[in-house]
Order: sequence, then structure tokens, then C-alpha cells
Amino acid sequence: MLKDTKFGQDQLLIFDTTLRDGEQSPGAAMTLENKIEIARQLDEMGVDIIEAGFPIASEGDFLAVSKISEIIKNATVCGLARSSIGDIDRAGEALKKARKARIHTFISTSDLHMQYKLQMSRDQVLEAIHKSVTRALDYTDDVQWSPEDGTRTDHDFLVLSVKTALDAGAKTINIPDTVGYTAPGESAYIINMLRERIPEIDNVVISTHCHNDLGMAVANALAAVNAGARQVECTINGLGERAGNAALEEIVMATRVRNDIMPYKTNIDTTKITHLSRLVSDATGFPIQFNKAIVGKNAFTHEAGIHQDGMLKHAGTYEIMKPEDIGLMESSLVLGKHSGRAAVRKKLEDLGYDIGDNRLSDFFVKFKNLADRKKEVYDDDLIALMRESTGMADDDNLRVKYLKVVCGSDSPQSAELIMDVNGREMTAQATGDGPVDASFKAVTKLFPHKAKLKLYQVQAVTQGTDAQATVTVKLEENGHLVLGQSADTDTVYASVKAYVSALNNLFRRREIKTSWKEAP
Ligand code: KIV
Ligand code: ZN
Repeated sequence: MLKDTKFGQDQLLIFDTTLRDGEQSPGAAMTLENKIEIARQLDEMGVDIIEAGFPIASEGDFLAVSKISEIIKNATVCGLARSSIGDIDRAGEALKKARKARIHTFISTSDLHMQYKLQMSRDQVLEAIHKSVTRALDYTDDVQWSPEDGTRTDHDFLVLSVKTALDAGAKTINIPDTVGYTAPGESAYIINMLRERIPEIDNVVISTHCHNDLGMAVANALAAVNAGARQVECTINGLGERAGNAALEEIVMATRVRNDIMPYKTNIDTTKITHLSRLVSDATGFPIQFNKAIVGKNAFTHEAGIHQDGMLKHAGTYEIMKPEDIGLMESSLVLGKHSGRAAVRKKLEDLGYDIGDNRLSDFFVKFKNLADRKKEVYDDDLIALMRESTGMADDDNLRVKYLKVVCGSDSPQSAELIMDVNGREMTAQATGDGPVDASFKAVTKLFPHKAKLKLYQVQAVTQGTDAQATVTVKLEENGHLVLGQSADTDTVYASVKAYVSALNNLFRRREIKTSWKEAP
């Protein structure tokens, strides 16, 4: 048995990288407002470190890290940087206003990466490690270093690289399984090996960063923790490149439910998990898999008769944690057209939405509108409506006023649309290959643009033919993605509103970009 790390026996630091590694996943780009809101909620949930972005990567990332640095009260805000001086200076600049700032610098150390990606020798890499950590220390004494592709790195060279980073002054050593290649036994072995061969590593925090390509990210991360890692890098919903990163909610709930065999403490308020999970899903447009551990729609649903029978006798028979532990409030209250404001407010609170009186009034109008068309309004309907309200803003340039489509077996289908465009009411008609195509063409006639449609996704919110459809639209302009979402019992109308919402976000993005450029 190895000795305890200096950092302590049982405290596990949660390092969230939803806004950096998570956002790197193709199609997951988030708006600045979304990122700020997610960072705020992560801070409230008790995350220890928020990796807010990769400042050199884009103006958007720089701005996100700067703004998040300004507003976060408790967590350490971290910016990622390769080993070049330019990257580190940019990260240092973005983190200037953070109460607690960390620079996370990395370089590949596997032979494969060094030869083909970096085209650098081992000696050159060691020199870059020393220089990058030293440079980062000019901005903050909280410097984290990572050997990219660490789990596929030759062990002797990994030891040499880690020693170099430690000598230069790194305070956290993170071991990434960049390509999701390792397995629990090996993950633990690497941490043990480093602790045996570099005793001074126990004076700093050892961290683990696992990808899920073989479906083992959480198991690998927990194996590393059992071997002495005291920081876990993870993302909400397991968001991340390819198959994603280790899921925060799984790591946290696993250590909580099986604290008998994983006796670690985190600072996470687990009741905030459901809300954050929905927030990230909304912001990225990535739906949560129904059977996803902890946060999937079915994670607490018992359908089989034998399970239901057991549950009625004692919930513990088939439930290892309670829905309320993750902030999933069960309530028998189903709303309908006779429900009042108080019932709607209570339901929203149960679902984790705390809205003020003004927003409640607007929301209530939308709720009544829906309840007139739909006999029963379920939790998921309210969540969809809430998403839609969040996506709309007073400063929207485009507003849909009226839509009529003609569809059926005879083509082409047609659409007639009335829209407010910068305060002017305008009408357009278009035909297309189906009602959605026709309607989108009508929108483009009224607001010509060059943005490319990258995603058009429709999801039924509940069961039944009167179910609302949530539509997600992603557009790309000059390499930047924007998202629009809307819900309605009329799928075509929801589609047009989602499209228009994405166009409004495009407007906002252009404004942000311009103002950022003008800043000194
Ligand atoms: O997966 C990885 O190697 C990374 C590093 C930047 C830590 O995300
Ligand atoms: Zn990663």
C-alpha cells in the first residue's frame, strides 16, 4: 500500500471540462451566454476547477474564458494552452480577472505523437515542458501540466517528462488517456508506477483525464483515483470528442453510492445534477441518451412488473439512489388548462427553474396556449417550453408572426410566412420539397443569408399524437456554429421558430465578434 498523497486521503477534486474538452466535440459549440450560464451553475454546484476554454483557439474561447474569469466566485478558472509561449500568454491574459486562475499546459509525449504530430525529439519535448511550465508560472502559481497521449507513452519517458514538469514548478500533474485506450488495471498501474518512481509527485495533485472510446472512461478514472489520483477531469453528460469524456455525474454518484469501497468526498451538491445536465443538453443540442446512467430519462423508470412490485414494497429493492439525490423531483402534479400560476411556478421550481415574476407572466401565457391545445401538460412539455422561452430575447431581430403551409401527397408543398424583420412586417411565399423546406425557403427570402444548415433535429417531447416536437437547428457561418431550439405541437411551426431563433443568435454572434475586435 502506497502512502497517502500530501493532498489528503479522501478529498477528490472535481475538474469540469465541459466548456473546453466537451465543447471540442463536433457540433457541440455553445454560445457565450450558454457558457456563462453553465459556468455559473457549475460553480454553484461546487465544482473545484472549471476549465473554461482554450484561449488561443478562437476569439470566442478567449472571450468565454475572460468573462467566466470575471464572474466565478468560488471555483478556480482554468485556461488550456499548448506549450508555446503564444498559447500561454493568451491564457494568462484571458485569466487576468479570475479570483483563482490556473493555466493548464500540455504537450504530447507518446512516440507516435512526437514523431508524426509534433515532429520533435524527446529532448526537444523535455525542453518545451520546462519552458512552458516556467512561462505559465509568470501568470499564476497554479500550473497544471499534462502529457497528451499519456497512457500510450513509454513509461521511462513519462517519468522523465513528469519529473521535468515538477522541477519546473507544476502543482498538478494530469495523466490523460487521450484516445480512450487504457483499461482500469492499466490506469491504476500507471498512477502507482509514477508514485513509486517519483516520490515527490505526492507533494502535488495527481489528476486523471479519461476518454470513453472503449466505454471505460469512468471506470478508468475511478481506478486512477483508487491508485492515488485526487483530481478527476470530467464533463456533464460525458460530453466530449468522439465517444466523450468521463461523465461528472457518474463519477460523483459512484463515489457517493459506493462510498464504502470508494471513500472519497467531493464538494458537489448532487441535487444540481439534473438541472445542469439539461442545461448542457439544451446548449449543445445533444439529446441525452434515454438509458444514460444517472441522467437518462429511463434511469429511474421501472417498467417490468416484477420490478414495479418490488419498488412498491420497498424502493431500495431496485433503486440504489433516490431521484431527489440528483435533483429529479417526482411529483404527481400533471398540469392542464385549469392550472393556475402558483401550480406552474411550483412545478417549475421542482424542475429546477427559478424564475422571477416577470418571466413567470410571459411563461404562463405560453403555458395556457399549450394547455388549450393539449389536454395534459407533462414535465417534459414544461421543460421544452422553458427551453423555448430561454432562447427568445427582447432584442430578437426576427420574429415569426404567421405561418401557413400546404402539404400532403401532391408536391411541391408551399408556405406563406409573415415575419418581423428588424421591426418591419414582411411577407413571403415559397415552395419546397416538403413543408419544412418550403418554410425555411420563405424565411431565407425575407432574411437572405449565407449560413449553412448543419443540423435539423426533431424529437417528440412526450408520447401521443398531440405531443410537442422539440426542434433543434444549427447553422454555421465562417466556421462558427449557432443553435436555435423551439417546441410546439405543430412540428413545422416549431421548425420555423427554431430556424429563426438560430438566425437571431447569428446576429448576436456577429455583434459580439465586432465589439470584441474593437476592444483595445
Ligand atoms: O485528451 C487530452 O489529452 C486532453 C489534454 C489537452 C489534456 O484533453
Ligand atoms: Zn481530452
